[in-house]
Amino acid sequence: MTTPKPTDKLRSRAWFDNPANIDMTALYLERYLNFGLSLEELRSGKPIIGIAQTGSDLSPCNRHHLVLAERVREGIREAGGIAIEFPVHPIQETGKRPTAGLDRNLSYLGLVELLYGYPLDAVVLTVGCDKTTPACLMAAATVNIPAIALSVGPMLNGWHKGERTGSGTIVWKAREMLAAGQIDDKEFIRLVASSAPSTGYCNTMGTATTMNSLAEALGMSLPGQAAIPAPYRDRQEVAYHTGKRIVEMVAEDLKPSDILTREAFENAIVVNSAIGGSTNAPIHLAAIARHVGVDLPIDTWQEKGHKVPLLVNLQPAGEYLGEDYYRAGGVPAVVAQLIRQGLIHEHAVTANGRTIGENCRDVAIEDEKVIRPFERPIKEDAGFIVLRGNLFDSAIMKTSVISDEFRARYLSNPDDPDAFEGPAVVFDGPEDYHHRIDDPALGITAETLMFMRGAGPIGYPGAAEVVNMRPPAYLIREGIHALPCIGDGRQSGTSGSPSILNASPEAAAMGGLALIRTGDRVRIDLAKGTANVLISDAELAERRRALAAAGGYAYPASQTPWQEIQRGIVGQMETGAILEGAEKYQRIAQT
Ligand code: FES
Ligand code: MG
Repeated sequence: MTTPKPTDKLRSRAWFDNPANIDMTALYLERYLNFGLSLEELRSGKPIIGIAQTGSDLSPCNRHHLVLAERVREGIREAGGIAIEFPVHPIQETGKRPTAGLDRNLSYLGLVELLYGYPLDAVVLTVGCDKTTPACLMAAATVNIPAIALSVGPMLNGWHKGERTGSGTIVWKAREMLAAGQIDDKEFIRLVASSAPSTGYCNTMGTATTMNSLAEALGMSLPGQAAIPAPYRDRQEVAYHTGKRIVEMVAEDLKPSDILTREAFENAIVVNSAIGGSTNAPIHLAAIARHVGVDLPIDTWQEKGHKVPLLVNLQPAGEYLGEDYYRAGGVPAVVAQLIRQGLIHEHAVTANGRTIGENCRDVAIEDEKVIRPFERPIKEDAGFIVLRGNLFDSAIMKTSVISDEFRARYLSNPDDPDAFEGPAVVFDGPEDYHHRIDDPALGITAETLMFMRGAGPIGYPGAAEVVNMRPPAYLIREGIHALPCIGDGRQSGTSGSPSILNASPEAAAMGGLALIRTGDRVRIDLAKGTANVLISDAELAERRRALAAAGGYAYPASQTPWQEIQRGIVGQMETGAILEGAEKYQRIAQT
């Protein structure tokens, strides 16, 4: 246990205790007094701890934070701090148009201003739904005041007719069933609603469970907290301990830059493979890394992550859901397995002041059906691979979700076991896809490679989760559930489709995808890590010249001011899709 720092070291003192500028001090003080804080408190030298509130009626996944914040506040007060709760720009993955991806950088931007511009000595980041976690961590990385993440936790398990129904994952399945005429609209809604039985975020290994697990693996939260389901008593308890701990972190001056080291990011990449984490993780980790000044090239994902086996048996790659993950031991049990193989940098410091090795080394798996021991994984080599070629400089593929059906159809040629080839059918944005997918005139067969372009950070501002495209209904009825999908958009972490996605640069930035045409043949080689359209360089150059002369790849006009602003400065997904230029504002609380 540590004691609070001397008053003169706290940055909040610059607002509240400034004898040289007494009139300004009075101005800063008076309005903070009018909701219950006393003058004695504000001048007591106690650290002022922000609670960055991401929950609201607009963001139901994080809404339970409105309840948890009360417990955080009690923890802060008990440890000798003053709590100030404030709203963060909400991001609801399933509700925001055109895509929640558009709002991550907006939320980041807003939070940076709040953390920098107000008298806050530290912050509790209430994270959860997909983009809220990276937005908060990116802002904490930029400002670099002591910060700790508190997950809202997953929903309870969903059930339908005795089977687990996972949020998101069931939607993709139900869509296929609806398209194949196996269920009607009513049953479709019943199935989907069954997957969301309580407060909390997606109970699958979607982007929310992924990013909260990775926040813990990075060391930015208390150990063991990511997996606790939202409604559990333990969730309230860890909220209280998170509040207590952040006050100690101020005393210890333990900042994001002390925790978010290159080693911490490598740990997170290894954990992501073992949990079967979302394909959104490379984008968000790249963004956090850039804001804290750590070099994390996309190839690190394959170098450090590809050979790691899948240990966590959660949907979409496996069978179970969030409650099971927690009961089986959550992130610490996974990390313990990886530590034994020497895959974790054990000395990386975490938010509780101990190393990840100290926190996790001795944690046992409580249910080996849900978290497998390293020796008996669900799949070997479960990490991402990075692909490149004349279609893009980089794209990734989540190999852990390649199904037996997919492998048998595309990856079983004995002479060429890791490659496949076929004619392209190209869609320009998700609306184009939805209009035309069931049109027989497209001639989609089991050989087809489906392309989605115009779905990147600029083209569909924020980058849409649309690359996982279901095949036409007539193919599903023939038993073909997945075609290879390739695109410059993202994919929901709850989707089990082995798409090639996050392609950078996107078509809207005149990447190679802008040049491909329906009917071109494309070859994908997973062993070599290549994806190429099989036409000559000269022909490609000619197409590029013609497209540029016609004004470039066309995409819809912006509908809001923020869409226009972000389109002007956003980078590509390979490097985190951050606001280019923002990364130079590092550690600004110390300057
Ligand atoms: Fe919010 Fe999945 S939609 S966590
Ligand atoms: Mg998502």
